[in-house]
Amino acid sequence: MLLEPGARIMGHVAVPGDKSISHRALLIGALSAGETRVHGFGRGGDTESTIAAVRALGGYVDDADDRELVVHGADFRDAELDCGNAGTLMRLIAGVLAGRNGTYTLTGDESLSARPMERIAEPLRRMGAAIETEEGHAPLRIAPAQLHGIEYELPVASAQVKSAVLLAGLAADGATTVVEHVPTRDHTELMLEAAGIGVKRRPTSVTVEPGTPHLESITVPGDISSAAPLLVAAALLPGSDLTIHDLGLNPRRTGLLAVLERMGSRISTFDRRREGREPAGSVQVEFDELIATEITAEEVPSMVDELPLIALLAAHARGETRIRGAQELRVKETDRIEAVADALRAIGARIRTHEDGWTITGVPARLRGGRVDARGDHRIAMLGAIAGLASREGVSIEGAETAAVSFPGFYELLDTVVTR
Ligand code: S3P
Repeated sequence: MLLEPGARIMGHVAVPGDKSISHRALLIGALSAGETRVHGFGRGGDTESTIAAVRALGGYVDDADDRELVVHGADFRDAELDCGNAGTLMRLIAGVLAGRNGTYTLTGDESLSARPMERIAEPLRRMGAAIETEEGHAPLRIAPAQLHGIEYELPVASAQVKSAVLLAGLAADGATTVVEHVPTRDHTELMLEAAGIGVKRRPTSVTVEPGTPHLESITVPGDISSAAPLLVAAALLPGSDLTIHDLGLNPRRTGLLAVLERMGSRISTFDRRREGREPAGSVQVEFDELIATEITAEEVPSMVDELPLIALLAAHARGETRIRGAQELRVKETDRIEAVADALRAIGARIRTHEDGWTITGVPARLRGGRVDARGDHRIAMLGAIAGLASREGVSIEGAETAAVSFPGFYELLDTVVTR
């Protein structure tokens, strides 16, 4: 697919429901007694895998309406679950299943099968789970076990690991505590609280009590990670003025907005409110000249999936940007440190890689353009698209269709806001 250069980005749009929250709504809905209504569900390749998994476990999911789902609790019968490309599904559902009465096998596609799974298996075993990996990877095999509450300090800043342990804690015989020194997204804690589970939060830890959730209904705000390519396009193209409505604005996810602001973009947020316990609102971005910035390990979790786009911003910002403490990018859907460096170099940017990030020398001018290989990674495909709009000659993307893993209709929506 060829993405031609764009002149500017104008308009008002909304993006699909948050992927992280949508996975959690289905899983906590499957655990709940009674019916869970999910409004604003974010449908995509990854969350389709979660719908299929809940059904395979005996849950009922009525998805007659695309964005309004009804989930009835699962009985957690024995199952083999194909998690597709979805790391969040595999890691969270392992926590859900570890204390149930069945025997489960979790498989994934080639990319997911290469990602580290001992990070969840190890704490779950400490809780008493019978869980095996294949040399640290999927397939995962889970057998029935009685779980015990533990206190677990996260060795990596990962909301997926935290959530796997907390969800397993629902079936434990006592309280489960996760300690995290760098805050990661807290959608699981917020949703469990909303579902009546005993949750105690302290500045660097969270404790859940065992129990059965009752999540009656939940409204999923728009996904800031899906809004990110559009926001970054507006920040890159002179004269742009874009507003995205009904967006999740959980402070543990909005690192990109802070970075855009300090790089010089004009950002305003308004209509601030809560959707259930999740902060939400609208965001407007207006173009202004970009300057380099610095990103450190403490900030990384609040923008982890947006870092490829931040690297693209940096390539267009005056000065040298350093992004460090992002070694987790090496174990995402692909090695995103190498994938981003290869993509940006291919279109004419100056970027050096480190084990944990990049140094990027930016110039406030359009890059040449060229060819970007998405490597089966939805975030790299969308990076290529935005790079194309901001280039002189356009970018052709190999494997552009992978964007549908998180954002079906991405290219069509982009088309409605670009002036060429
Ligand atoms: C997610 C957490 C992050 C993020 C992923 C979704 C979640 O992963 O990159 O896209 O929903 O909890 P890690 O927890 O591995 O950092």
